[in-house]
Amino acid sequence: MSEEKVTITRLKGMKAKGEKITALTAYDYVFARLADSAGADIVLVGDSLGMTFRGEENTLKVTVDDMAYHTRAVRRGLKRALLVTDMPFLSCHSGIEKTVENVGRLVSEGAEAVKIEGGRDMAGTVEHLVRAGIPVMGHIGLTPQSIHQLGGFKIQGKGGEGAKLKDAAKAIAEAGAFAIVLECVPAPLAEEITRESPIPIIGIGAGPKCDGQILVTNDVLGLTPGASPKFVKKYADLSRLMVEAMGEYVAETKSGAFPGEEHSYHEKTRHLKAI
Ligand code: KIV
Repeated sequence: MSEEKVTITRLKGMKAKGEKITALTAYDYVFARLADSAGADIVLVGDSLGMTFRGEENTLKVTVDDMAYHTRAVRRGLKRALLVTDMPFLSCHSGIEKTVENVGRLVSEGAEAVKIEGGRDMAGTVEHLVRAGIPVMGHIGLTPQSIHQLGGFKIQGKGGEGAKLKDAAKAIAEAGAFAIVLECVPAPLAEEITRESPIPIIGIGAGPKCDGQILVTNDVLGLTPGASPKFVKKYADLSRLMVEAMGEYVAETKSGAFPGEEHSYHEKTRHLKAI
């Protein structure tokens, strides 16, 4: 992995070279540092935080204030990855002035780009922001902010809907976005969209032929309770490891085995940290 800072130009070059783009979510400094160290090219402060971080049933309660707070924390954890922040529910729908104000707030907290859900209907907004110098990532297919409109978390682009998705990808690319997240669509359609797109297509539940992949880090690490969708691959079972470690601490504290002599200060101790 090259140590060089990831930029939108670099991502476009990766598509041209057929080099896969990797993206993970992070909502705080700790996970941002870990994702950066692991070599993720993009770290997304996703509005999925409403569900994974706060335990809500969807992303609709997340605000610009929330995204600003989490962006600030993630910014401090990144050295190499491109920091993209989600524009939350309805934050780009009250006129272009309000949109620019909201986007500007997140950029001032350290976002290097923003992600906006929507197809041709959002192309004008994307174009305006790009002209103002703000890199935009599109998000089409299953767009969780439209969950009620879509009738639930369902696969998109089936049957005759493929043409609409292809048109959405085209409109967002023409508006100047630097990449598009394509969520939950049949793999052959995703392959076709990826082949036709001049900009990188980052898939999630969109099969193996996209230019890159994004997953929610909590899913990757086994921190999400309950069953995960089919497209998730769990690379670790951190929930189990964490409960084991916390349980050991609780048990040792109850029994008096912790803290031991080695964790205790004496008259001559001068430093708080182990040296
Ligand atoms: O909010 C989020 O985490 C996302 C990804 C799942 C793409 O939008």
